[in-house]
Amino acid sequence: MSTNVLEDVSFTIEPGQCLAVLGNNGVGKSTLLKCINRICSIQAGSIYIDGKDAYKMKNKILAQNVAYVSQKSENSNMTVFDTILLGRKPYIDWDITAEDRQIVSDLIDQMGLNEYTLRDVSTLSGGEAQIVMLARALAQQPKVLLLDEPTSNLDLRNQHEVLKIIRNLAETNEICVALVIHDLNLAIQYCDRFLLLKDANVYSNGGIETITSESIGSVYGIEVEIIEHKNKKLIISNNY
Ligand SMILES: Nc1ncnc2c1ncn2[C@@H]1O[C@H](COP(=O)(O)OP(=O)(O)OP(=O)(O)O)[C@@H](O)[C@H]1O
Ligand SMILES: [Mg+2]
Repeated sequence: MSTNVLEDVSFTIEPGQCLAVLGNNGVGKSTLLKCINRICSIQAGSIYIDGKDAYKMKNKILAQNVAYVSQKSENSNMTVFDTILLGRKPYIDWDITAEDRQIVSDLIDQMGLNEYTLRDVSTLSGGEAQIVMLARALAQQPKVLLLDEPTSNLDLRNQHEVLKIIRNLAETNEICVALVIHDLNLAIQYCDRFLLLKDANVYSNGGIETITSESIGSVYGIEVEIIEHKNKKLIISNNY
């Protein structure tokens, strides 16, 4: 007999919002993102993107709407430029256009990847490759951006740089972002909605007011204190 990874999970993301999907290892965060992108399939329920049923979309249309960066890195022997260009695939009918190339070049500039353009992705460090995969997803110009632990391999500066880019893009391009992240302080600094998962269900779903020592304590099974620092919440573990 198999058990369901997730049950009764219901939430919406408005354009411009950045939703943090939070919860313990194994609770189903990656599975949730994969269901939205149809890498995993749902046994019941439905997922709507801009009013349209994601499970009835053609693959190409889904890829124009949803971009996904997985938690696990992919092996690629392609160059950084070609890898990011792959993000344009859902829009390319016959030939790559000058616009496709321009979008890729702009992303390379924006993400600080200029010195890597012609390097094979397989030769990059974990963090460099993670930024390339994010750039590929952005080249898709999606309405929904799904990111599974996008900062897990990044140094402190790049964690903030990348989350700033994601947050700005969400706001300026009215993208719905859902990202899985284990660093709660980064989550509360850059995200504005919080989906807390516990025991295959939604524990809470809402704005920053849902992030309390009770909710975090209950979801993660650890005592935390939330203090105010420069008008921002800061989560500190009491288990030290
Ligand atoms: N392909 C699979 N076959 C069997 N079980 C799976 C498969 N993928 C995931 N699971 C199980 O489903 C549950 C949820 O996994 P998932 O990867 O979604 O967790 P997660 O919340 O992303 O965890 P983490 O924080 O460790 O990445 C886990 O118990 C996992 O073992
Ligand atoms: Mg995961």
